[in-house]
Amino acid sequence: MERLNVIPYPNRVRFTGGTLKTENLLTAEMPIDLVPGSMGDEAYVLEITPEGVSAKCATKRGMFYAQQTLIQLVADEEIPCCVIEDEPAFPYRGFMIDTVRHIVSVEDTKKMIDAAASLKFNAFHWHLTDDQGWRAQVDSRPLLCEKGSVRSGSYFGREESGTEYGGYFTKDEMKEIVAYAAERFIDVIPEIDMPGHSSALLHAYPEITCSGKDVEVKTKQGIYSDIICAGKDEAFSVVFDAIDELCDIFPGEYFHIGGDEVPKTEWSQCPNCKKRKAELGIKSDNELQRWFMQKVADHVREKGKTAVVWNDAVKAGEVEGASVQFWMGRKKPTVKIANGGGRIIVSDFYHYYTDYNYSITPLKKTYNYNPRLKGVTAEGLKNIAGVETPVWTEYIKDFDRLCFLTFPRYAAVAENGWTLQENKDEEDFERRFEIFTKSLRQKGITPADKEEWNPPLMKRFTGARLY
Ligand code: ACM
Ligand code: ZN
Repeated sequence: MERLNVIPYPNRVRFTGGTLKTENLLTAEMPIDLVPGSMGDEAYVLEITPEGVSAKCATKRGMFYAQQTLIQLVADEEIPCCVIEDEPAFPYRGFMIDTVRHIVSVEDTKKMIDAAASLKFNAFHWHLTDDQGWRAQVDSRPLLCEKGSVRSGSYFGREESGTEYGGYFTKDEMKEIVAYAAERFIDVIPEIDMPGHSSALLHAYPEITCSGKDVEVKTKQGIYSDIICAGKDEAFSVVFDAIDELCDIFPGEYFHIGGDEVPKTEWSQCPNCKKRKAELGIKSDNELQRWFMQKVADHVREKGKTAVVWNDAVKAGEVEGASVQFWMGRKKPTVKIANGGGRIIVSDFYHYYTDYNYSITPLKKTYNYNPRLKGVTAEGLKNIAGVETPVWTEYIKDFDRLCFLTFPRYAAVAENGWTLQENKDEEDFERRFEIFTKSLRQKGITPADKEEWNPPLMKRFTGARLY
C-alpha cells in the first residue's frame, strides 16, 4: 500500500496518480487559501499535482500544520500526487519536561519545542518546581528562588555529586520560551507541584509546613512527607502569589497545579489540618487533598485559566473545573470523571513515560498504546482531550541522553495523538521515522538508533535497569 513519508500520518489521503518532482516546487505557484470557518482550527487540505501544491485551511494553525506536512514531503525528490484532508484524532498533544532534577537550558528547550512542533504537538507542559528545586522567578516571593532553587548536591542513581546545583528561569527567559513556542502553535503550561513534591518551596517558607520545621531542598529522588499544610491560610497566600505572577507570563488556557504523590502523614497529625477537616466536615486526608486542590483550582479559574491536576488528586472525587492528567493508579475515578463530562489527558506511565530505557519501555509499547481508556463510554471519549508524554530528569543529566530517550518516542506519541487507530501502522512508522531522523539531526537532536528501539527479549530482561 502506498504511504506518504509523514509523521504523524495524515488521516485522509487519496492518491491521484503520478508524482510531483520537488525541484519543480521552486518555480511553481503554491496558493494557500485561508478560509475561516471552512474546517476545524487544526485541519488542512493539501492538494499535490504534477504542477505544484495548493493548500486550504481555516486558521493560521491549520496553515502551520499544512506546512509541517509539506516540509516532510519535500525531503524526497518526488512526492506522490494526492489530496490530503487532515485533522487530528485528539485536540491535545503534549510533552512534559522536568527541568527541576536537571535543568534543561533555554536553548535545548527550544530545540525540543521545535522538534515537537514539526510533529504537530500543541502543548509544552513545563515542570518547574519539585522537591529538588524551584526553577521559576517570582518577584513577590524572592525566597522561592534565592533559597529554593539550590540543592546541596545530586545523588541520583550513579550520579553522586556533593557539588551545589541550582538555577532558575528568569521571567525574560520564560517569556522567550512562551514566544518561541507560540510561533510554533504550542501553548506552554507551567506546573507548580503541590501540596507534595514541594520541598523547595518549603525550604523557602518552612512556616507553611504542618510543624514549622526546616525542610531541605532534596538531593535524591523520592516521595517525601514534607508537604504544604492544608490548615494554614498563609500557605495559600504563598501559592497564590506564585500562581498570579506566572499567570502574567504564561498566556495559555491551562495551569498545572500538580497533586501527585502526596503522603498524608503530616496532615494526619497536624492540629491545623485536623481543625480544617473538622470545619469542613470531612473525614479523610484524601478528601482534604481534594479540597486543597479545589481551592487552588478555583483561584486559577479566577485568573481566567483552567487548572490541570495529576490523577492522584481525584482519589476522593472530582476537582470541579479542573482537567485530570492520568499517569498511574486506579483508573476508575478518572474514567468516572471522563464519563461525567470532565476533561482528561492521558499520560500512562507504562507507555508514555520516556525517562525509562527502551528495555523497560520498548518503542513498540509506546506506539501501540491506545489512549482511549477502557471503561470510558462512547460519549465520554469526547472528554479524552488527548495525550501527553512526560520526561523526568533524575537520571538525565545531558541533552544527548534526553534526545536518545525522547526520540523516536515523541514521534510515536505524536502519532497516537494525531492519527486515527485505523491509519496507524507500526512497521511503516519505523520506516518513516528513519526518514524523519535527518530533519531531527538538522534541529540538533540525535535520536536513538533503530537497534535500540525494541530490544530482544533477553536484553529486555538483563538491560532493565532504570538508568
Ligand atoms: C508523576 O509521575 N509523579 C506524575
Ligand atoms: Zn497541617
